[in-house]
Parts: sequence; structure tokens; C-alpha cells
Amino acid sequence: MRRYSRITGTGSYLPPRRVTNADLVAELAQSGIQTSDEWIVERTGIRARHFAAPDVTSSDLALEAARKALEAAGCQPQDIDLIIVATSTPDMVFPSTACILQNKLGANGCPAFDVQAVCSGFVYALTVADAMIQSGAARRALVVGAEVFSRILDFQDRTTCVLFGDGAGAVVLEASDTPGILASELHADGRYVDILCVPGGVSGGEVLGHPLLKMDGQAVFKLAVGLLDKAARATLAKANLTDADIDWLIPHQANIRIMQSTARKLKLSMDKVVVTVDQHGNTSAASIPLALDHGVRTGQVQKGETLLLEGVGGGFTWGAVLLKL
Ligand code: ACO
Repeated sequence: MRRYSRITGTGSYLPPRRVTNADLVAELAQSGIQTSDEWIVERTGIRARHFAAPDVTSSDLALEAARKALEAAGCQPQDIDLIIVATSTPDMVFPSTACILQNKLGANGCPAFDVQAVCSGFVYALTVADAMIQSGAARRALVVGAEVFSRILDFQDRTTCVLFGDGAGAVVLEASDTPGILASELHADGRYVDILCVPGGVSGGEVLGHPLLKMDGQAVFKLAVGLLDKAARATLAKANLTDADIDWLIPHQANIRIMQSTARKLKLSMDKVVVTVDQHGNTSAASIPLALDHGVRTGQVQKGETLLLEGVGGGFTWGAVLLKL
């Protein structure tokens, strides 16, 4: 009998400090940066985001989300035999945020590692966990997306600093006789490294380069719309399904206009799309599991429904996962 993987619990966590557009406009004005609620809402759909306190790390946010996902799945940290954390804002250069999370959870012993694919990170991590479960290498995985993106924002650059937020989302993925994850697609094209990057590093005890986010927003926008549609169609085709079979689209929450365009191409109305970008901003690898958990806990998304998760991000990376909840 074929072995599948299935999501048995979801959880998420947002740091308590909620920053509305009005708050951010006022803060930025103090350093001479002009923006407005109207511009941010019209171009992105974002109305608020959450920022973590200075001493809070990605693993702290991941821990809260993981605990909720474990509780929803009815299992204990010791029941987990694989931990994957998708993040571009790790606590340290090393060890991985997954190892730090493992220790905080008290789930020591199982394999734990990070996946770095920026905003596509959760789709990558879920696909890797699915493959490991299908192969028999794991039975019950904790897959987390966690970010403190506020740490890598350039608050002198109004074209990017208004877009991102902090948060974490998690799922428990278990071996199952029935699907579960139906199909997935992962891609990367390193020719586009420069359009979205944090071009800094650590060497000889010093930070080299520019360790803050830089983005060519229009180039990202144009690439994202086409690539997301291609990935969605390829994933559906792998599972012998069509766009009419999708109950919910749960996209990476970067910009409402990208989400609307993707939905339109898939002939889905916006009430079939889980939208959290208005309240969370772009939380990079955390955005898809945050939106998934939001959909589950608000009762929008029901067990047995077919979900298409998809994301694009720095790299350039992109991908999609089609699953039955
Ligand atoms: N407030 C006010 N005005 C602004 C702001 C701001 N915060 N930012 C830029 N502007 C101005 C610009 O200076 C420009 O003014 P000008 O015409 O006088 O030169 C004008 O607004 C238009 O700027 P554009 O860059 O053309 O605006 P655009 O409509 O392209 O929207 C945006 C910018 C929102 C960044 C959009 O391009 C976008 O969403 N891109 C995709 C981003 C994305 O999806 N990223 C996902 C991956 S993220 C990851 O992997 C980490």
C-alpha cells in the first residue's frame, strides 16, 4: 500500500505588537520617510503587521506555533521524529533554528534542520517532509515557517519596509494510508538572485555587505504572477485534477494584487482564497502556514477539502503543494 503524508494539526503565532499602517507612517515620518496608509493599502492590501520585541527570535515564535499545532494534532513533542523549520531570519548563523526549537520543545533526538528558500520556504519544507514520510524516513514531522523579518528591513527604504511582518505557522504532518499531500512542485532560478536579496554576510567576525533586504518590486511582481500560475497548473496535472477541484487557494501573502491575479488565472473567486496579508503583511516563510491555520481556526477551511498552497520568493524560488486536508 502506498504511504502518504497528511496534515493532522495546524498552529500559528503572531508577536503581540501590532503595527498599523498609521503607526508605521508616524514612525517613519520621524526619520523623514514619507508614506501613507492609502499608498500601502492600494498597492499591497496591507493594513497592519506584527513586529517582535527586540529579544524575541524566530525560534521563540516557532515554539508557540509548534505547541498549538501539536495540541491540535493531539500529540506530544516526543511523538515527533522530524523537525524542519523554514526561515531566512534564523536565530544564529548556526546551529539551525530547528535544533534550537527542538531543544525548547524538549523533543531531542530526532533529525532537525532548516530550509532556506525565503518566501517559498514553507512549500519547500512541506515537500521535503512529505518525501521523507513517503520514503519511511519519518512518521510524524513538525514543519514550521518562522520569521522575524523586521530584523532585516531597511527602515530608510519605503519601497520595502512597509511590506513585511513577523510571525510563525506550523503543521504536524503524519504518515497515512490515505492522502494527504497529492502533489507538489518546487523550482528555483538563481539568475534572479539580485532582484530580491539581503546581500550581506559574516566574515572574520564582521558583517560584510549590506545585511538588509533589497527588492526590485516590479521585477518580482512580474515574475511571480507567471511562475505561480505555471506551478499551480503543473501540480494539478500531476494529481490529475483541474482548477475546478480546488476548494481553497492558500497563497504566500505578499501582495493582494498578486493573489487576485493568481486566483483569476485559476478561475477562482476571491472568496476561495484565504487572505491574511491585510493583517499580517508579508511574513515570508511563515505566511502560508499562518494563513492555513487562520483558515482552519476560523472554520473557513474544512477537513476533506482540497487546498492549493503556493509561494514565490528570493532565489528566485517558487513552488506549490496540493493536498487534501
Ligand atoms: N509610500 C509611498 N510611495 C511609495 C512607497 C511607499 N511606501 N514605495 C514606493 N513609492 C512610490 C515610488 O517611489 C514610485 O514613485 P514615482 O512614481 O514618483 O517614482 C511609486 O510609488 C510607484 O512605485 P512602484 O515601485 O512602481 O510601485 P508598484 O506599484 O510596483 O508597487 C510593490 C510596489 C508593492 C513593492 C510591488 O511592486 C510588489 O508588490 N512587488 C512584489 C513584491 C513581492 O511579491 N514580494 C514577494 C516575495 S518577498 C520575499 O521573497 C522575501
